[in-house]
Formats: sequence, C-alpha cells, structure tokens
Amino acid sequence: MWDLLSRLLILGLLFTSGVCKDSPDDDIPPTTTIIDILSSNANFSKILLSLQRSDLVDYINELQNVTFLAPLNLAFPDDQFYLDLSQNDVSRHMIDQPVDADDVCGLGVYRTLFVNTSLLPEGVQQPILLDNRDDLFLADNAIVTEQYDVRSSNSVVYGVSSFLERHKSACDFFADIADADPVFAQYQIIARLFSDNEFCATRKITNVTFLVPSDASVGLNEIELNYLNTNEGLEDKTRLLESHAVAGIWGGRLEPVSTKTLANQKIRISSNSEGSNIIVQNTSSTFSNYLLSDGIVHLYDSILLENSVPVFTPRKYLLGLGLTSVVNQLDFHKLSSLIDDRDVNQTIFVTESAESTESKSSLLYHFVDGRVEFDRDELLTTKYCSSSVLGHCQKLKVMKRGDQVSLNNNVFVTSPKIRVGNTYIYYVDEDLTLPLPFQHAVSPFLRCAKSIKLLHDFGLLKFRNNGGLGYTVFLPNADAWRGLDLVLDYLYANRGVMLEILGNLIVNGLIYDDFQGSATLATLLDKPLEVESVSDTLYINGTAVDVSIESEVLFDKGVAHPIERLVFPATVQVGVPELLSTVDGEEFLKVLKLLRLDHLLYEDYSFIVPSSRSMRLENFTSELPNLARLEKFARLHILPAGGMEKVIECNDTVPTLLENVHLSCRELTSGISMLSVREGNDREVRVLRQGLAINCGDTATGILLVDRSINPDWLSGSRGPIHLHLPFVALLIGVVIGMLLLAVGASCCLVCSVGKQTPVSGETAPLLRAHERLENPTLPNSPPPNETQSYSNYYSTHSSSRPIDVDQP
Ligand SMILES: *[C@@H]1O[C@H](CO)[C@@H](O)[C@H](O)[C@H]1NC(C)=O
Ligand SMILES: *[C@@H]1O[C@H](CO)[C@@H](O)[C@H](O)[C@H]1NC(C)=O
Ligand SMILES: *[C@@H]1O[C@H](CO)[C@@H](O)[C@H](O)[C@H]1NC(C)=O
Ligand SMILES: *[C@@H]1O[C@H](CO)[C@@H](O)[C@H](O)[C@H]1NC(C)=O
Ligand SMILES: *[C@@H]1O[C@H](CO)[C@@H](O)[C@H](O)[C@H]1NC(C)=O
Ligand SMILES: *[C@@H]1O[C@H](CO)[C@@H](O)[C@H](O)[C@H]1NC(C)=O
Ligand SMILES: *[C@@H]1O[C@H](CO)[C@@H](O)[C@H](O)[C@H]1NC(C)=O
Ligand SMILES: *[C@@H]1O[C@H](CO)[C@@H](O)[C@H](O)[C@H]1NC(C)=O
Ligand SMILES: *[C@@H]1O[C@H](CO)[C@@H](O)[C@H](O)[C@H]1NC(C)=O
Repeated sequence: MWDLLSRLLILGLLFTSGVCKDSPDDDIPPTTTIIDILSSNANFSKILLSLQRSDLVDYINELQNVTFLAPLNLAFPDDQFYLDLSQNDVSRHMIDQPVDADDVCGLGVYRTLFVNTSLLPEGVQQPILLDNRDDLFLADNAIVTEQYDVRSSNSVVYGVSSFLERHKSACDFFADIADADPVFAQYQIIARLFSDNEFCATRKITNVTFLVPSDASVGLNEIELNYLNTNEGLEDKTRLLESHAVAGIWGGRLEPVSTKTLANQKIRISSNSEGSNIIVQNTSSTFSNYLLSDGIVHLYDSILLENSVPVFTPRKYLLGLGLTSVVNQLDFHKLSSLIDDRDVNQTIFVTESAESTESKSSLLYHFVDGRVEFDRDELLTTKYCSSSVLGHCQKLKVMKRGDQVSLNNNVFVTSPKIRVGNTYIYYVDEDLTLPLPFQHAVSPFLRCAKSIKLLHDFGLLKFRNNGGLGYTVFLPNADAWRGLDLVLDYLYANRGVMLEILGNLIVNGLIYDDFQGSATLATLLDKPLEVESVSDTLYINGTAVDVSIESEVLFDKGVAHPIERLVFPATVQVGVPELLSTVDGEEFLKVLKLLRLDHLLYEDYSFIVPSSRSMRLENFTSELPNLARLEKFARLHILPAGGMEKVIECNDTVPTLLENVHLSCRELTSGISMLSVREGNDREVRVLRQGLAINCGDTATGILLVDRSINPDWLSGSRGPIHLHLPFVALLIGVVIGMLLLAVGASCCLVCSVGKQTPVSGETAPLLRAHERLENPTLPNSPPPNETQSYSNYYSTHSSSRPIDVDQP
C-alpha cells in the first residue's frame, strides 16, 4: 500500500517537473544587477573576475531585458581564475530576452546578442537552442543550473556548466561537410552543391533554415553534379538549392507557419515531439535543429517539394561530361533540338577528346535512332540523312565480338551506357567519321582489289546522282575471279562481255545485309535485277550470294558486299567453243573436225584439251591416216555430261566418250589435279587450267587444258609397269634387304661424294624431256632450252608449284 503511494508520488513529481509552469518564484529583492548576482554567488567568482579583467562590466551593466548564461567556476580550467574575454564571447552567452526556465517547453530556438556582420551589414543574431525536456535544462550542450532574476534590468541570470560552443557559419559548415558530424554522412550532395564554386559565399546565404534531403532521395550522379557546377547549370543549381532553403531560422517548438522557400515555393513548417521533429509539408525530419551561427539545418529522407530536382536532358549530360564544345557545335549548326528532348529514343556517340570543329553531317552521324544496347551485330540508322546521292539516312555498322563492340569496324565503344531519359550516350575511342568514298572504304582485307580495278577501268565508279536511290555494289573477291580461270581470259579478250558483267554488279538502290522480302532494282546498265531474301540468304536473280554484316562495306553513296561467286547476267553466254578460243587448241579442233565430232562442242560435253604445241611434239597430227587410233584418242579427251563436275571434285572414276574407259583423278597437295587412264597404266597428265562454260544449261560443261595428251596406248594391254603380288613376308624380307643395301650404299656415297657437285635433280628437270625419252628413245635427251621455257608458260598462272616430272617413279 505504501509502496503504491510512494510510486504515485514520484510519478506526480516527474510529471510536474516536465510541465511548463506559469508563475515564476519571486523571492529575490529588486534593485539588483547582473553584476550583483554574479558577485553574490561564489560559484560565479571566475566569470566575474574575467569580466572585470576584460573591461566588460560596463557592457553588462548597460544590457536590459536579456538572459545571461553565466559560466560557473567549474566551466573554467581548474588552475585558471579568469579568462580574457571579448565582447563577442559574452554576447554569445546573452539571449536577447529574459527567459524564464518554466516558460521553456521542450525545444526552443532563441536569439543571442552575438551578430556576425561579415555577410550582411546588419548581421544575423546567432541562434541558441534551449532544451527543457525531462529533468535536464540545456542551452546548446551546456547544463543550465540555478536561475536568478535581475529585476532592475528585467533580466535573468543562469549558471551554465561550460562555455557555449562557437557555431560555424552556414558557408563554412557546408565547405567542411565531409568532416562534419557522422549524422551528415548521408546528406552530402546538397551540402556540397552549396559550397561548390563559392555558391554560398557569392550568394550571401545567411539567416536561413536548410531542409537537407538525403543523398539517396536526391539521387544525383557525378555527371549531373558536374553539370550543376557548370556555368550553364547555375540556374538549375540555384533552383535546386533555393528550394531547399527557407528564409529565417525556424526550429524547435513551432506554431505551424506557411512560408516560402528561397525559390518562392509555398511551404508549411510545423513541429511535434516538443520541437524535436520539424515537419515540412507532411514529411518528418530524421534529424533536426542543428545550429549554425546564421542558420539551422534539418535533415529529411525524401525530396520535400516536387519539381525541385532539375529535369536532365541530353544537353545537360553532355555539359556534365565536359563536352561543351560538342554542345556549342550542335547549337551553332542549329541542331539543338537533338539534345533538348529527353523523350527522343536515340543513342549518341561521343569521344573523350573534344575534337576540333566538325561539319554538320559529321555531327549528325554521331546520333543514332533508337536506344542501342549492343546485344547483337546490326546496322544502325544515323541521323545523317543526305538528300543527294544516298538519299537515305546513312547507316552505322555495329559488331559485337566478345566484350568488344566496334562501330564501322574501326571505332570501339569504351564506356557502359550513360542513360538520360530515352537517350543513351556512349564513349568511343576515336571520332566516328562518315563513310568514305567507295575506293577508300573497301578494306584491303576483303581482297576485292581486282574488282575495284576492273570497275574503275571500265569507268563504273562514278556513282552519279540516281535520284536519291543510293547504290549497292556486289564486289566479287579474289577467289571469285580466280575460279573463273579460262573464262576470265575470255572476258579480258571480250571487253563488251566484261562490261556487261561489271555493269550489272552495281545496282541502283540500297540492299543492306538485313534486307527483307523481295525487290526488283535496276542495275547500272538498266537491266532489272531481282533481289530476294529467303531465310537469311540473299538471292540476286536466283543466285545465292553470301552477304554478311561482317564483310558489308558502307561508303558515302551506298553499300558494297564482297561476294565469293561472280553472278553472270542472263545475257552473258560463254560456251565451250569460246573457251577453246582462249587456249592454243587449234590442233585439237582439227582432230575433232576430221572425226566429225566438232558438233559435240555445242552439246553437253566437256573436253580435255592438249595444247597444239604438245600435240605437234607428240606427233599426233602425223598419225592422221590412222583414224581408228585417232578416234580413240579423241574420245579419250571427251567427257560426257557430268564428267566435268567429277574432274572438278577430282573423282577417281570419270567416264569418257570411249566406252568402258574412265579417267582417274588424283589431287596433289599443291591442289593440282592429275588425270590418268583408270583402265590403263600409271601415266598421268596434269590439268593446267580449266574453264566452265557460262550458260543456262543445268550440266556443267567446259574445257580442261592439260600439259600433254592422254595417249590411247596407255590403255591396258600396252606397256606399263608390272604389278607384283607378293605375300607379306616376302615383301617384309625385301624391305629389310632393301634398307640394308640402302644403308651400305648411303654410307659409301657419303664417303665418295663429299665435296662433289650434286647432279641436277630429277624434280627440276624439264617435264617434256622425260616423255620424249619414253615415247621415243632415239630422240636426243635434251630439247632446246627455250622450248621447255615456253612450255612452262602453259601452266596456270595461278599455280604456285613448279612443274613436277610426273613420270618419275
Ligand atoms: C555552488 O555550486 C555547488 C555545486 O555545484 C553547490 O553545492 C553550491 O550550493 C553552490 N553555491 C551557491 C552559493 O549557490
Ligand atoms: C525592456 O522591456 C521593457 C518592457 O518589456 C521596455 O519598456 C523597455 O524599453 C525594454 N528595454 C530595452 C532596452 O529594450
Ligand atoms: C563571421 O562569419 C565568417 C564566415 O561567414 C567567419 O569566417 C568569421 O569567423 C565569423 N566571425 C566571428 C566573429 O565568428
Ligand atoms: C532573418 O529572416 C527573418 C525571416 O525572413 C526576417 O524576419 C529577419 O529580419 C531576418 N534577419 C536579418 C538580420 O536579416
Ligand atoms: C498532409 O496530410 C494531411 C492529412 O494527413 C492532408 O490533408 C494534406 O493534404 C497533406 N498535405 C500534403 C502537402 O501532402
Ligand atoms: C521510345 O521507345 C519506346 C519503346 O521502346 C516507345 O514506347 C516510345 O513511344 C518511344 N518514344 C518516342 C518519343 O518515340
Ligand atoms: C535478271 O533477271 C531478269 C529476268 O529474269 C532479266 O531480265 C535480267 O536481265 C537479269 N539481270 C541480270 C543483271 O542478269
Ligand atoms: C614426228 O614425225 C616426223 C615426220 O613425220 C618425224 O620427223 C619426227 O621425228 C617425229 N617426232 C616424234 C617425236 O615422233
Ligand atoms: C566419285 O563419285 C562416285 C559417284 O558419284 C562416288 O560414289 C565416289 O565416292 C566418288 N569418289 C570420290 C573419290 O570422290
């Protein structure tokens, strides 16, 4: 029972101590002064002495209607009886009105007599925070003890446990924000903006309440902060900061007030929790009432006012990235609209180093439609759209290889995307240049030099204005031309045909690798050309061509595609007789005519043609009367339909017109094909060159130029090497004996032949000589040297290997 009563008593005491009382005690006689109070109490002896020594007694005596927070002796260092004080030191401890402790409810912001006039001529009274919550009465951080009323000057004196701390001015506080109390760690952005570029000092920011939002809620990145600190960004920065500052010092317990920010936005400030929570609009502070010498700071976790954070456009980002010269050039060329709308879906490529002045077209080439993520190879459409020859918007080729993204093959993207609105900005390592003129745009790696030279020789590279259609060039590469072999000889000899082929390689209109559907375009020679895309393969007039983004070449007036196969126009026909005219085939033709087989030239037959010279050397013409043998000879050299393909793929069973006789093909490592009679001995002829007729037929026909004729005598039954069929053991014994003999022989040779000249190798001996020796042993061993020389001319000019003596075992 007693226990309960005493608890109630204690509760009651606690309650009354927290409640503000209306009636002050008055048992101190009037006519006293502040100095009287100080001198009457031993606990004020040090401050009194200090005031006397510092000549401030008169100053104090003149004050009226003030509250003096007088430091008690314990606020002084033990060994010091007085301190030299300035008037400012004292005025910091003077509140500009008499304050009764019982009137202070919760937190209250009061003004001292200390005024700093460095920013404003009239100065701002430094605020002081009195905190009378719970049992403790605090002024700033000093504990306030006894109260003494000074009736004569309507003042009050309190003892305080320590000297009051100095406060930093707002500008100094923001300048040192990085080293400020840890409570500000997450509230740096706005504070830094205040101090950056002397904003605070030049704007004379003073007598202000700062409502600082957290970094997370402001959410400005480095680029945006950089922009705000540029000259162009000053307006945005001013608005951002001014909308977070309110004139006057508002803190502690507040009656709700409606006021305006420095940016003139309406704002409502109130408080709760005895003034420890300052509410702006409906947002509570996370930390409040941090005093500065000319202001007060409250912290918030969200943006208090809409529209206070600036809207960022591509222009602002470019400025923030330090690309002022780019922005200036865009403005100069009246292209500002490109960077002032953050909703446009676009991608901008910029370089680190600010380039010198660029042309308008080159600037536009840095802008691409759509937001590019670089997740695949693609052609992008730039904003450089010429109305002249190209007539379309120029493209930009993107290729992604691993982590590397290249633009037009030679410029690399070096930064992750920087996003502002719907615009992406990427850094590239070099300046993006517009596609070059055709001759310079085609890289040598594409091996199209021959095509370019031919097109140039035929005057086809003019690319005149074709009404804004642009041009597509199909560029056969080196392989395409080499594969033609004899056909190419024919084309060189017939410029008209060549022109027809070349002229139809250039098309009016743009066909990029991503072409879809089908279209009919006109070639440079005004022929129609059907272009169709079927499951990612491009067909031109029915012929599939390999077109890829990788090899595709963008040039100033269109696009070029290196192709690996020449596409012949329907009108170009190169038959077997035409091909025969490109080689020395008179003698062979003579034989065909004699046998009345020459009509086969116009049918689906292919021909193995020994040159006239080799035929004459082998004396076939002298055998004219021997028609049976001659017919055998001729039929051995004629391949029925399908034979040509088999030779080309080097099959070992190639049928001939001679019944039941096949040729066998063998491919040397050098790629040269050797033909022999399958049903005969091992003699071989070499295919020197070949030519496939160009016609509309299904079967491949053509001619094969060989170094010598296939002799009917090689057929079985005639002389040839003897094939022995020995059992394995015998073979093994033979090999062992052979090796032994070889070893003995070799050691002998080594001893004998040191220092002697090596004989001419059989490998390099003239080819024909061997044949002659075999065919006609009576002939002298070496023909005139000029003859072998001229003979080697028959070898394909593309052959990389020297002639090999095929009859060597
Ligand atoms: C001086 O202070 C001490 C302790 O702070 C206190 O006990 C004493 O009563 C004070 N003297 C006067 C005259 O107030
Ligand atoms: C002090 O206050 C009284 C009444 O509140 C006033 O009449 C007087 O002028 C004031 N004195 C000064 C110096 O402000
Ligand atoms: C007044 O404020 C300025 C900065 O605004 C500061 O440098 C100076 O120390 C202050 N003066 C006093 C006496 O505190
Ligand atoms: C400080 O601001 C308040 C509120 O705007 C104003 O009433 C007061 O006069 C200002 N003080 C100075 C010294 O400018
Ligand atoms: C604040 O909250 C009150 C009631 O909760 C509401 O009526 C008022 O519109 C709110 N004000 C703002 C600025 O959100
Ligand atoms: C940007 O692209 C999105 C979809 O990718 C689209 O919804 C939007 O309308 C586009 N904006 C403009 C301005 O074209
Ligand atoms: C393409 O085909 C059309 C119709 O088949 C033909 O008229 C035209 O000459 C061909 N063009 C070329 C360049 O071959
Ligand atoms: C070719 O025949 C002519 C005469 O018919 C003869 O003089 C010549 O030696 C022969 N040559 C060969 C290689 O048989
Ligand atoms: C030759 O052709 C036949 C039939 O066309 C085929 O079966 C055979 O495998 C081919 N031989 C070679 C070596 O390609």
